[in-house]
Amino acid sequence: MPAQYICCTTQHHLGENDAGTLIQGRLADTAQALLARYGQQVQAIYLDPPFNTGKRFDMKVRIGEKGYKTGSPALQLPAYEDQWESREAYLSMMREALTLARGLLKKEGTIFLHIDSRMYAHLRLLMDDVFGESNFLNEIIWSYQSGGRARTYFPRKHDTILFYARSRSYYFNLKGVPIARNESRSNHMRRGVDEDGRSYRAITSGGKEYRYYDDDPAYPGDVWDDISHLQQKDPQRTGYDTQKPVKLLERIIRCSTQEGDLVGDLFCGSGTTAVAAAQLGRRFLCVDQSPLAIAAAGKRLCLPPLETGFSVEAPCGPDDCRVEAEVFPAISSYTVRLTGFESRAAQAAGVSGLDGVDLWSAGFVQGDVYRECVASTRSPAAPHLQTMMEMPVCAGEPCVMIVDIFGNRRFYLPKRRY
Ligand SMILES: C[S@@+](CC[C@H](N)C(=O)[O-])C[C@H]1O[C@@H](n2cnc3c(N)ncnc32)[C@H](O)[C@@H]1O
Repeated sequence: MPAQYICCTTQHHLGENDAGTLIQGRLADTAQALLARYGQQVQAIYLDPPFNTGKRFDMKVRIGEKGYKTGSPALQLPAYEDQWESREAYLSMMREALTLARGLLKKEGTIFLHIDSRMYAHLRLLMDDVFGESNFLNEIIWSYQSGGRARTYFPRKHDTILFYARSRSYYFNLKGVPIARNESRSNHMRRGVDEDGRSYRAITSGGKEYRYYDDDPAYPGDVWDDISHLQQKDPQRTGYDTQKPVKLLERIIRCSTQEGDLVGDLFCGSGTTAVAAAQLGRRFLCVDQSPLAIAAAGKRLCLPPLETGFSVEAPCGPDDCRVEAEVFPAISSYTVRLTGFESRAAQAAGVSGLDGVDLWSAGFVQGDVYRECVASTRSPAAPHLQTMMEMPVCAGEPCVMIVDIFGNRRFYLPKRRY
């Protein structure tokens, strides 16, 4: 007898604190609910939307213990489409996203819109329209070395991040983002040591001497060339195309928020914003339509070094898998076993049995809310999936959650064994 499928739309994942919420859904479908719950509560929003490239983007996933041990074989699964009927259709989606973002922001809040040269001119005007020209703060150039080698024009080596305030009483902390002083940029300056023995470089302009002490911190301007794009072998890489480096988000979050603030990302992909926010003691609200994105983000949050608690809200997937799971009740604990998993989608991809499971956990369900107690997640450091786990007795029915290789999460009541 297989375990019984049930629907849970909210999951609380293990961890000492509750760092934030991941929501799976299209913005058009979630906007009303988001505004009702989080309207005017978010301190900073980072948006890294599709760029209107006309392409499909994928996620490379590792399969089973062997896949995690060797780094192969990987399946390449479609994560999201960046193909639009027309430029107007793309801009209409972006207007909805920006209007939602404005409604979510506190009056002291700010927004960072990450785009490239394709839609820059249109989105600059759209930002002026939604946020007001007078709330424009910066056009940040994120300049990097990676990317194509064009021969018929100059290679395109930067993205643009449009930085706007929600109102004139916005919060911004430049001192929160010190950077290393760039020696090469101050080569033309005169070197000196003052009466206290502090060394400096100086330049005289208009009869006035400007001194830059070596031990004073420097701060970034609006061209950021000190954060590189993720290299192919970067350990941060999740396999999700278009993933951004955590360092970029750290800078954005540090200058625009304080500890405990809520940070939003409405196109969160692999969860880079959630990871940076959790690392910096901020809370996050991250949304994405793709189950693979939410699964990748959740995995980054629950694995070392973060191992933080968080919630996921996602629609229930179809009851189309066969799961064998059982629970053995004792006086103060339960032992839960996962013995079988089959899904048609996994079989069609040539994957069978527990190789189709990327993460499973056991906990308790009350209504449609699931609270995790124990979890086993495949990772390069721990490729083996535990099939038996023990958990304490808590309120609710014992329940098993499975996240498959497609990022789908499903819930089952295991068979009780006495
Ligand atoms: C460029 S990626 C974000 C990458 C992310 N910054 C990261 O570091 O992984 C854009 C994301 O927007 C999501 N997306 C596109 N249209 C959406 C919509 N209408 N509602 C919600 N998410 C959407 C896609 O699924 C994709 O994950």
